[in-house]
Amino acid sequence: MIFGRDLGIDLGTATVVLVTRGKGVIAREPSVVAMDRATGKILKSGSAAERMLGRTPGNIAAIHPLQGGVISDFEMTQSMIGELIKKVISFSLVKPRVLISVPSGITEVEERAVIDAAINAGARKVYLCEAPVAAAVGAGLDISKAEGNLVVDIGAGTTDVAVLSLGGVVRSKSIKVAGDAFDEALIKNIRKKNNLLIGKTTAEELKRSIGCVFPKTEEQTMEIKGRSLMTGLPSNLTVSSTETIEAFDEVSSEIIEAIHSVLEETPPELVADVAGNGIVLTGGGSLLWGFDRLIESATSIKTRIADDAELCVSYGMVKKMEELGEMEDGPLNLARRRQLRG
Ligand SMILES: Nc1ncnc2c1ncn2[C@@H]1O[C@H](COP(=O)(O)OP(=O)(O)OP(=O)(O)O)[C@@H](O)[C@H]1O
Ligand SMILES: [Mg+2]
Repeated sequence: MIFGRDLGIDLGTATVVLVTRGKGVIAREPSVVAMDRATGKILKSGSAAERMLGRTPGNIAAIHPLQGGVISDFEMTQSMIGELIKKVISFSLVKPRVLISVPSGITEVEERAVIDAAINAGARKVYLCEAPVAAAVGAGLDISKAEGNLVVDIGAGTTDVAVLSLGGVVRSKSIKVAGDAFDEALIKNIRKKNNLLIGKTTAEELKRSIGCVFPKTEEQTMEIKGRSLMTGLPSNLTVSSTETIEAFDEVSSEIIEAIHSVLEETPPELVADVAGNGIVLTGGGSLLWGFDRLIESATSIKTRIADDAELCVSYGMVKKMEELGEMEDGPLNLARRRQLRG
């Protein structure tokens, strides 16, 4: 049976998740590759390569081949997908059909890159699905009816805001501002305010442990280590949760703005549905403390974070794979999408 050879790939900026129809999630790896600069050969991919980030000698580069939800390094992405397919499908005579999720704002050129990378990596046919559609299905929403639902998928490199109805995207906006932008904001803010340079890992730890985008009832603090820009020596700093809200303000405002602009463009009947159904948040970035409260207070619409937010797109893809037989492979039909949008 060919079905067993079908693969779903959530090709994320931070994480790649592989799913099959029968087994669900079968692999989850950071989307990082390490390569030899001289030969261009891939040395490691996934978690082994992630451990090398920021710690490589001059001849090795560890990079994220996807940025802002789309391919930024074609060859590295292709090799990464190839390695993953090899890992999960052994002794295969039949090449797999592959379903890949892409941000709703993807351009046709970017779509082609995803398709070509997967074909070169060993896929027989490539099908694309829009991430917010998969996210909604994976979050357990019934989007098949003529009723509006609003999903905000906050990943690492892209935030996808979409109003869905009748199984498709009615209005959407994707911006290249998401989880990673919060880490960068912390680094920038602490550097400016405290003359302290902190690394990405420290910023990520700080964000996850005490970081928030909405005031907490009880303030929390955390001690972090960095390098003083004054002395060049290691130095410690205590950061409070309130300070993180300040640091995050610009980034969270951009996300709120994207939600507002989608709501403004959405037909009034669907907005009324959304107001009734509430907003659903998916993606790892939505786990930043207080995102549901912030969005709720900015929109006056009830907002909840989906269970297993980071895996909603993957779960949705498992379901989508049942429809592979009826789907068309190749780029999403842009013309049809435009028509739907009216
Ligand atoms: N508990 C948490 N608190 C704050 N942020 C978190 C938490 N858990 C994960 N994140 C953030 O979620 C992001 C990863 O989310 P996700 O796996 O959905 O992204 P992705 O699908 O790889 O990226 P994209 O969809 O943008 O291509 C990272 O920026 C990470 O820092
Ligand atoms: Mg994602």
